Amino acid sequence: MKVLAIETSCDDTSLAIVEHREDGVFCVVMRSVSQIDIHRQYGGVVPELASRSHLHDIMIVYHDLMVSAGYDDVMMLMDDIDCIAVTVTPWLPGSLIVGRTFWQMLSCRYSKPYIPINHLHGHVLSFLLDKTSVSFGQCLVLSISGWHSDLSLLISHGGIKHHVDRLWSTQDDAIGEVFDKVSRLLWWPYPGGVWIWQQAARYDETIEDYGYIFKRTVLDGCQYSFSWFKSQAHQFITHYRQTHQTETLSESFIIYLAYQFQEAVLDSLLAKMREIYDVYQTDAIAIVGWVSANFRLREKISTWIDLKSEQQWVMSSIYFPEQFLYCTDNAAMIGVVAGVELI
Ligand code: KG4
Ligand code: ZN
Repeated sequence: MKVLAIETSCDDTSLAIVEHREDGVFCVVMRSVSQIDIHRQYGGVVPELASRSHLHDIMIVYHDLMVSAGYDDVMMLMDDIDCIAVTVTPWLPGSLIVGRTFWQMLSCRYSKPYIPINHLHGHVLSFLLDKTSVSFGQCLVLSISGWHSDLSLLISHGGIKHHVDRLWSTQDDAIGEVFDKVSRLLWWPYPGGVWIWQQAARYDETIEDYGYIFKRTVLDGCQYSFSWFKSQAHQFITHYRQTHQTETLSESFIIYLAYQFQEAVLDSLLAKMREIYDVYQTDAIAIVGWVSANFRLREKISTWIDLKSEQQWVMSSIYFPEQFLYCTDNAAMIGVVAGVELI
């Protein structure tokens, strides 16, 4: 089955052709336009600008997709497509409506079945893309990005039947959002996650010890706060300014803060994941969403897995999205959900 997938829920206009085959689900071609450069100056996504940009970009992306996939005209493409999948929820209403209206236009003209998709299910299943040997009974999926920090239980009922249960979610900021907010305190523009990671990676024994260790979150059960780390960063910066009698933050202070902040956030996130893993003891774990591209997070997970293997851990696999493109918001992951029966 071939799916034309459309994703416009936030600040990426993305279209893809995804093929569901016996041996897996594969992205045939994907074309996306990111609006980051438009929103950067405002420190975050501006909904009205996002919807206008989708409106401007969607026909261009569609045409580019068609040409890249080797179709000479729309009729040829539509003859080859079995259905159209569109993100319908959640996120920005004005942005979602652009994708939906685009689908309506295609559907009126070419009468293709329509599959409405939940964006969060797209992230949860994004690790299945372009892999031939994925197999699990139960998989704990950690979805982490600028908009969400969720842990879901994905249960395979054989074949294409799956069940998704959201087990846990943050009570306030998403993890990527707190990276962005802390980078803004350091005067770095949105999105700040990669920059914080780069600063933290420069940390070594030559960096001055400022004697501040971020506290880890200790809330029980489903309670969880990421915005707490932003408050700690704010306190630390204020303290530095007062004691050094300057507004300017030194390079070594920024590196120290980025390192301590990142360690604390990732440790807390992984502590929560381990706590939930210990309850469900799934045979696989998947980490998806843009923050899953953080190298330090991957290092920490590998260390945990090595430790667990020594204790004959039952978990057989850990999955990440096959490509960086599948970590960010993208249409290919929406096409994956279209071929799965969620029960
Ligand atoms: O894709 P995205 O905008 O979220 C959704 O819309 O789903 O995620 C982008 C977020 C930003 O908050 C960015 O700062 C964060 O992901 N991010 C990172 C890293 N790369 C991106 N956070 C931590 N470490 C990274 N390496
Ligand atoms: Zn997303």
